[in-house]
Amino acid sequence: MKVFFNGKIVNSNSPIVSAFDRGMTFGDGLYDVVKVINGKFPFIEDHVKRLERSSKFFKMKSRYSLSEIESIALELSSVNGVEDGELFLEITRGTDTIRDHIFEEEYDPNFLEVVQPLRKIDRNLWETGAKIVTYPDMRHGLCEHKTIDLLPNVLAKNYAHSKDAYEVLMFRTQNGRKYVTEGGSSSYIFFDGERIVAPKIDNILPSITRSKVLSIAKSMDLEVIERRVWLDEVRHMKEVMLLSTVSKVMPVVKIDDMSFLFGEKTRKLASAFENLILSYRAKIS
Ligand code: PDD
Repeated sequence: MKVFFNGKIVNSNSPIVSAFDRGMTFGDGLYDVVKVINGKFPFIEDHVKRLERSSKFFKMKSRYSLSEIESIALELSSVNGVEDGELFLEITRGTDTIRDHIFEEEYDPNFLEVVQPLRKIDRNLWETGAKIVTYPDMRHGLCEHKTIDLLPNVLAKNYAHSKDAYEVLMFRTQNGRKYVTEGGSSSYIFFDGERIVAPKIDNILPSITRSKVLSIAKSMDLEVIERRVWLDEVRHMKEVMLLSTVSKVMPVVKIDDMSFLFGEKTRKLASAFENLILSYRAKIS
């Protein structure tokens, strides 16, 4: 497979990264994942904006503009023959001369762009619904950013895999009561029988899929409320939806010993979101 690294298209197995790249030594970097469908990159402008916001927050430079990132993606999609898959963007702060936690003011960031086929997902899950397991959220306090230090997420998702589940539903504890955060690589929203309930953005990723689906829900005159969602409330929810760029809107039918319906609200939102992706027209080029 071919990838783009700092201005060149190279083989993915060629030695491109220095031993002192700060992503290698410190996980000092950011990433994003965009869907590739019919050779288009739905909502790429939102993903790049999120990456740029975080670059600014962490004082990293963005090396390429939105239109440059999109044209590189088009080229990679063509050389790799991937029309449907995922686009991966990664920025690291740059390369040190020797390993040192302290970073200098001026760095040339390293930038990697990959267009690959969709990761292995059982396609039946969109019809049958996914099984999820709960898991403690052991991540740091900067989860509103898509940082590349994903070890707790990797452990969480492998725990789910070992339990034959698709994802985890992570939780943290406040005053002795557990509240839900998000998945290892996805967000959740719930239907409580009357309204859509979404865990508020409090140290969880501002998911692009979540924001699109909540807008669709509002446009369907569904009431949407963003608030703390306690784990002991989840049992009483009528429908549960898992959301992400690669999972889109996936029905959840089981969380630990709790069962849920693949109900009408999930069906409607899943189908409207599918239409939104399929009708995506690039606003840039
Ligand atoms: N993950 N929460 C986390 C922790 C995520 O890593 C992701 C996305 C989401 C959903 O965000 P979005 O709707 O913007 O894709 C929520 C990507 C797909 C990944 O890491 O591969």
